[in-house]
Amino acid sequence: MKMTLSKPVDKNNGLRNVYVKPILLKNNKMYQFTYRYERRDETKNHNVGQTLEVLKDMIPEAFQNVTLFTMTEDVTLLVSKKGKPTVLCKKTQENRDLDLSHDHEKQRLIDPKNPWWHLLGLTTADGKVMSDMQHKFKQICKYVEIVDGVMRQTKFDDTIHIADMGAGKGYLTFALYEYLTANYDKKILMEGVEIRPELVEKINTIIEKCKEAWPSVSTMRFVQNSIEDYKPEQLDVIIALHACDTATDDAILKGIRNNAKLIICAPCCHKQIRREMEKSGKTDSITKYGIFLERQAVMVTDAIRALVLEYCGYKTQVMEFIEIDNTPKNVLLVGRKSDKAVDKQAVAAQIRALLEQYGIGEHYLWKHLFKTMDFKKD
Ligand SMILES: C[S@@+](CC[C@H](N)C(=O)[O-])C[C@H]1O[C@@H](n2cnc3c(N)ncnc32)[C@H](O)[C@@H]1O
Repeated sequence: MKMTLSKPVDKNNGLRNVYVKPILLKNNKMYQFTYRYERRDETKNHNVGQTLEVLKDMIPEAFQNVTLFTMTEDVTLLVSKKGKPTVLCKKTQENRDLDLSHDHEKQRLIDPKNPWWHLLGLTTADGKVMSDMQHKFKQICKYVEIVDGVMRQTKFDDTIHIADMGAGKGYLTFALYEYLTANYDKKILMEGVEIRPELVEKINTIIEKCKEAWPSVSTMRFVQNSIEDYKPEQLDVIIALHACDTATDDAILKGIRNNAKLIICAPCCHKQIRREMEKSGKTDSITKYGIFLERQAVMVTDAIRALVLEYCGYKTQVMEFIEIDNTPKNVLLVGRKSDKAVDKQAVAAQIRALLEQYGIGEHYLWKHLFKTMDFKKD
């Protein structure tokens, strides 16, 4: 059914695992090899003869552990450092199915054939993602996958209130809504918040058009407002994908003030802090180079955002959410509200130290946090 190669001998070439599975390609039985590197996957398909040759070269020279999963048992080969092999066999308890689909045929989280994707301008009339939209489609699928993973670890009531801040043309809003309404046994109330009236009007018209094919779409709507002035009745999850500059801060603030359980943002154009750093004239031997100043501004902005989330009682992760060549726009901040006590003074001290180190007079989010009555400076 499949084979997993692990424990690489050479730890320096970046290759961590190889996964092998049978597939049917134009009715020919082939084996699909997925080479998992630290930051990317590479896939190759081989026929039976080639597969045996490739495996012979890799076991045990390149990998010390190999598990072969069959319909009835798992067979593991362990090779010690001295080259001593041990074989372990374990009968399977469950009934297994053989999956011969190619990875490309796998069920996607989002179905581009749904009519709203064409109305939104992401697909052709016959449901194919347009070539210049492939990247956007991949990006929103990845975002949905991550949001789903985080949401599954969070407890919600029967209704989940979600707001997409700076929703733009609505791709992410629709994608997450499509996925959640199809896969969650909860009522989803989704609002896309967007400042540009023409976009909001256009998308609400698309929602109207979709109502017949997709009756549940009535629990999604777009509101024309700034994130700052948006006043939701309740907010469980906020998402923001590339809300410009301090709009990301406004989105985080809105989540904090409404006690959102999850705040998930992929920030964009970190101009406010860059300006502050430039203004201070406090450059060092790294930031005296413009490009590095820009990159440092991105890191400092988002590190302080992550710390502010911690300060406000969110367990925070910073992750890379999609592989885009060398762009600061692929960082995702995930804050999950936690009951654990926070040493606010210690976190505030870390924030202040960063502000001082980089000569930042004000960080928009940190400053605006204290405009709310609930937060007093520690
Ligand atoms: C770069 S676009 C991203 C759109 C969408 N999230 C996506 O990734 O496809 C940022 C959007 O945020 C909107 N925006 C910027 N500042 C905003 C604010 N303060 N309040 C509401 N919307 C805002 C812009 O009009 C724009 O449509």
